[in-house]
Amino acid sequence: MKVFHTVSGLRDDLNKDRLKGLRIGFVPTMGNLHGGHLALIKQARETNDIVVCSIFVNALQFGLNEDWDKYPRTYQGDCDKLRDAGCDYLFHPDDIEMYPNGLDTQSRVICPTMTDVLCGASRPGHFEGVTTVVSKLFNIVQPDEAIFGIKDYQQLAVIRRMAEDLCMPIQISSAPIHREPDGLAMSSRNSYITAEERPLVIVLKDSLAWIAEEIKAGNRDFVGLEGTAKSRIIEAGFKIDYVTICNSKTLDQAADDDLEITILGAMFTESARLIDNLSISL
Ligand code: PAJ
Repeated sequence: MKVFHTVSGLRDDLNKDRLKGLRIGFVPTMGNLHGGHLALIKQARETNDIVVCSIFVNALQFGLNEDWDKYPRTYQGDCDKLRDAGCDYLFHPDDIEMYPNGLDTQSRVICPTMTDVLCGASRPGHFEGVTTVVSKLFNIVQPDEAIFGIKDYQQLAVIRRMAEDLCMPIQISSAPIHREPDGLAMSSRNSYITAEERPLVIVLKDSLAWIAEEIKAGNRDFVGLEGTAKSRIIEAGFKIDYVTICNSKTLDQAADDDLEITILGAMFTESARLIDNLSISL
């Protein structure tokens, strides 16, 4: 695996690959890699000649009181995992390389409406930071395909929309949620969960799964279902951010006759914010 810290270095190699007609797959990450990230790399490996991964903890997508400075950075271990998973190029820029003109005056990419709800409502500016950095990374790598996890359902939906709206010639692919043996969705932020909280946090996934079963059985009292699920999470000792039953494509509140439904939830432990989701076709 070749490691690049500069845009020009990576571009030089990718330009040569492109001239040879090689297909380029791209997996953007913030590092601290786990099985979920590595599954994306393996998926990219199956459909591309060159697999590029980026590791960049993007300050632009963190709020002022969020965990940018304490976000786990595990560069050496990440390199070993990427090599084993069959990654060809790792792009690992520093802040100056990505934002040479500074953060405040950086041009931004905005995807309206869809970013105001769910995670966007509790993390103002978060998705603007994501769409801006992903656009930059797309322009740097110019991949044929980019792969994102369904774990971050809203992020995937926003990036699909951005690529469509801005005519980006990139296939946006998705990969299933990778889970721990008890069902907890893998996340770099799971390291913030305490030992006492760990057996209880599964309540988030279980509550979403319970809603899915109710809907499949014909229950359309969406407000009631959301309320009961929230109560379960609060009873387990956690703070609710949201539990919402949505139209899978638009992320609007689901209507009674919607056939593609996604149930999304976010909750706070003492020092982590955990998200999960579950899609059903009726
Ligand atoms: P990060 O949280 O590192 O996630 C990188 C990619 O891995 C995302 O596409 C995410 O959805 C996927 N992923 C994370 N956990 C997963 C799991 N348990 N199963 C499957 N896929 C999983 O998401 C970001 O970084 C950033 O916002 C980024 C897109 C890199 C922009 O900075």
